[in-house]
Amino acid sequence: TIDIDTQQRGPKVSPMLYGIFYEDINHAADGGIYAELIRNRSFEDGPRYGAPADMQGWTTDATAPSLLSAKLIQPSKKAPLLNSVQHNALELTVKASKDSPVRLVNEGFWGINAVQGRSYHLTFWAKALKYQGNVKAMLYSHDGSQIYAETMVSSLSSSNSKGWKKYEATLTADGNDPKARFALVFDGVGQVQLDMVSLFPPTFKNRENGMRPDLANMLWQMHPKFMRFPGGCFVEGQESPDNAFRWERTIGPIEEREGHWNVNWGYRTTDGLGYHEYLQLAEDLNAKPLYVVNVGLWHGGMTPYDNIQPWIDECMNALEYANGPVTSKYGALRAKNGHPEPFGIEYIEVGNENNQPDPNQQSDHYYERYEQFYKAIREKYPEMKIIGNVVAWGDDNPKWNSKLPVDLLDEHYYRSPDWFAAAFHKYDSYDRQGPKVYVGEYAVTNGYGNLGNMNAALGEAVYMMGMENNSDVVELASYAPIFVNENDARWRPDMIRFNSSRVMGTPSYYVQQLMPQHLGTQVVKVVQNNPYKDVARKPLTPKQSRVGFGTWSTHASFETVKEYDYVKGDWNKEGNIVRQTGLKDATLCIEKNVIDSDHYTCKFRARKDEGAEGFIIIFNYVDDKNY
Ligand code: AHR
Repeated sequence: TIDIDTQQRGPKVSPMLYGIFYEDINHAADGGIYAELIRNRSFEDGPRYGAPADMQGWTTDATAPSLLSAKLIQPSKKAPLLNSVQHNALELTVKASKDSPVRLVNEGFWGINAVQGRSYHLTFWAKALKYQGNVKAMLYSHDGSQIYAETMVSSLSSSNSKGWKKYEATLTADGNDPKARFALVFDGVGQVQLDMVSLFPPTFKNRENGMRPDLANMLWQMHPKFMRFPGGCFVEGQESPDNAFRWERTIGPIEEREGHWNVNWGYRTTDGLGYHEYLQLAEDLNAKPLYVVNVGLWHGGMTPYDNIQPWIDECMNALEYANGPVTSKYGALRAKNGHPEPFGIEYIEVGNENNQPDPNQQSDHYYERYEQFYKAIREKYPEMKIIGNVVAWGDDNPKWNSKLPVDLLDEHYYRSPDWFAAAFHKYDSYDRQGPKVYVGEYAVTNGYGNLGNMNAALGEAVYMMGMENNSDVVELASYAPIFVNENDARWRPDMIRFNSSRVMGTPSYYVQQLMPQHLGTQVVKVVQNNPYKDVARKPLTPKQSRVGFGTWSTHASFETVKEYDYVKGDWNKEGNIVRQTGLKDATLCIEKNVIDSDHYTCKFRARKDEGAEGFIIIFNYVDDKNY
């Protein structure tokens, strides 16, 4: 039972408490929420960072004599590409005909989701060189047996297109296939160069260059109050500052975005989901944007801390783009990109996990860096809430070891369910006069299973309740990470799992959806009459049971069961198989039973069957003698 005394009030609950942390990890953006369907649309992708581009995602389904060659070309003085940010384009040399056309095929991100009645918007850039013929577009099944959509785009001829020209068409599918292919079909003779081939389905809130509606809806249903972006390690990048998120190269027409290697998470990003789109997405979700800036550090390198003015300028320009008037340089750019009203950033985080004790962990003179950013931001935006980094890995009580002013501190916890449950009281003792807390990343990462599980979700939920009780200190919180494309998981667990056509939330996702829907405004006094303790001292009534959860890396946790007055008796014999059910289950054997007048101890031997994630033990009341 729980007694509630509404007259005795505790802290007010932060109305901003629950938000989301978006990072381009596990194909969260390209091949994820960013709705683009063409993989390697600009022919810049290679197998890995540093390797040359290799046409991945693309094939041709014709051979000589209709196809003479399909190769990547690089810019030259004589023949520049579409613009200066393009490093590659595709050049097709064909001798095709209506009866023997050449198809340039794209497989999408592990398939293109063709949906009956859905219209797709195609754009691409082409340059015809001594070419005469047509170009068609189509959506069809991977084995070519079914065509879902086909349309004539244009006739192409070197006489009517001297330079690069943009083409557009609409394809409407008449069948369903989550693994469909896209093709441009050529029936002419000559040479054609292609770049930035893009295909979009309808998007969330019908935004141009927008988001996949089913994935964005999952975020929408969480009612996030803020959205932290663009990472995570994605902010920092790896190997080179070119691989960090540099906001200025992520805005404007998509063909003018260079894209960059997301080395941290092992694939190239188009930056199609760029700074403007992040701000727009936050706005479309009714969430306040929380921007994380790079302080001149990337995984594997840094700009010396006394030379970081260019990084500060980059940050201030980003803020002007988001918040400045249309009369300012970057405010005008925002207006030009379709959003004259300021986006209104109110929270900014200075660095991501950059205040680690060991400088090899992407940290170097963090406080010196922070101070310079702090001064610049505070001077121009006195109301802005500035978030500092504290130790992110391995420290349960990270501290701000500086006198520098800071509004919030970003704590990160990836721990076990037990750790989170025990952290219910973590914030009870935090200094009420100190900085507020932003729990920027947290998730059960130990004993979770690939798809998450109830135990993980419960651990997180208990922790969240502790945050709510202490929401005068904990102002913001966000689970991490959000998304994973099941075809290329780089981090587990993630709360939303998807492929080209389907999406599912883990139990953790549903906790993240549930808690904000029931967020109160103020804590009231609650006396919890520990149900376990009281019940344990009384005999259980039939059908009552106690449940323990175990994982392969921890012991089963039965804290509540400890309280029982165990009844002696033949509970089970050593060596007995307690439970063994079908595929992906565990086998538990009783190894040792020790029963004395006060305690019952049972040691299990567990065998992990393939795919088993853990075990659940249920003690059922049987009668007044046996459990
Ligand atoms: O959430 C995944 C990663 O964990 C983030 O990129 C980083 O901030 C943290 O280390």
